[in-house]
Amino acid sequence: MQLILGIGAGIVLALGANWLYAAVFQPQISVVSPDLNPSPEVVATRPPELPPETKALLAQAGNIVNPPRGDVRLMVMSDLNDAYGSTTYSPEVTKAIKIMPFWRPDMVVCSGDMVAGQYPALTQAQMRAMWQAFDKNVAAPLRQAKTPYGFTLGNHDASSALSVTKKFLFAQERNMAAEYWRNPQHNPGVKFVDQFEFPFYFTFEFKDIFFLVWDGSSHHIPTEKLAWVEKALASPRAQQAKMRILLGHLPLYAVSIGRNDPGEVMENSDKLRAMLEKYKVHTYISGHHHAYYPAHKGKLQLLHMGILGAGPRPLLTGNTPPWKTLTILDIRFKSPDLTTYTTYDMRTMRVIDQNLLPRFLAGHNGMVMRRDVNQLSASERQTCLQALDVALCTA
Ligand SMILES: [Fe+2]
Repeated sequence: MQLILGIGAGIVLALGANWLYAAVFQPQISVVSPDLNPSPEVVATRPPELPPETKALLAQAGNIVNPPRGDVRLMVMSDLNDAYGSTTYSPEVTKAIKIMPFWRPDMVVCSGDMVAGQYPALTQAQMRAMWQAFDKNVAAPLRQAKTPYGFTLGNHDASSALSVTKKFLFAQERNMAAEYWRNPQHNPGVKFVDQFEFPFYFTFEFKDIFFLVWDGSSHHIPTEKLAWVEKALASPRAQQAKMRILLGHLPLYAVSIGRNDPGEVMENSDKLRAMLEKYKVHTYISGHHHAYYPAHKGKLQLLHMGILGAGPRPLLTGNTPPWKTLTILDIRFKSPDLTTYTTYDMRTMRVIDQNLLPRFLAGHNGMVMRRDVNQLSASERQTCLQALDVALCTA
């Protein structure tokens, strides 16, 4: 008996902590029993050895949930920047990148604000240093892991805000962001369909999903750019894909305190939403409001991303604290809902219970409902009508 136990312990030691994590927290993986002479099939399905820093973080954090894997898995993050001009990142940013191999995303997605610009006094050298720091802390590790990076630019990366004479107020920051992303060494590893105005407006495909990226670094998208957006979404490539996802920094509707103003959401949001619905865009992933809120309005799913960088904000109503979050988004093409979100409080690494979030939010330009809520109660509707016009209280 002792001999059998001894052999068992030896096997566990030989396979290492990574296997244990995989067996305990990745129930979807078919390999569950140690085997001294594994068949080639078993070797092929065993997850790769985790890097030492990932193992160390997992050991520190205890039992981190790894949800059942979909056909495609995205690790979604947003708003990584610290104070203006900063070349360092919050611990939650580095933690996310280090834990990434545990979740094994097929792609990482970021809904903007990767560096800390939108500050007129920044010199070119400072801007370059910020993008270098982003590269070192975020982009280079993803390239090394051969994980594609789908992104959109935020107001702190390359604001499209205009002066009274209709010139870009942050033209130099936009040039620097373009310089960084157009450098072939910084190739994000996605399969471009149309680099119309990369990195501001572009489309790419990933595992039967069509992604469109628009410049939501300010509330305004010029008419000619919207014409391109519509043409791209109407194209056979977009329409024949199994799913369409839009990435942009500003959301369509306001969800957080301090961001409930016209300049903090896309202008003409109802019109934009009607266009997105027309072309069957499934989800709009946005950032900027620094508060996680999984919502829908009409036929459009709205994933309002929480942040990893500085300044988490409270939602417009409810009692949840201002979390720093990251979302694992699993896509199942045959499921009616198509997407599942598993969102982590990045300080504790615990999964956030969606039911703790308010059932709806009534921002200045329209109400959005939590993604699992389809109808408001009479008293909830009354609450909404006290804040907004009747036309804005529909979702
Ligand atoms: Fe922002």
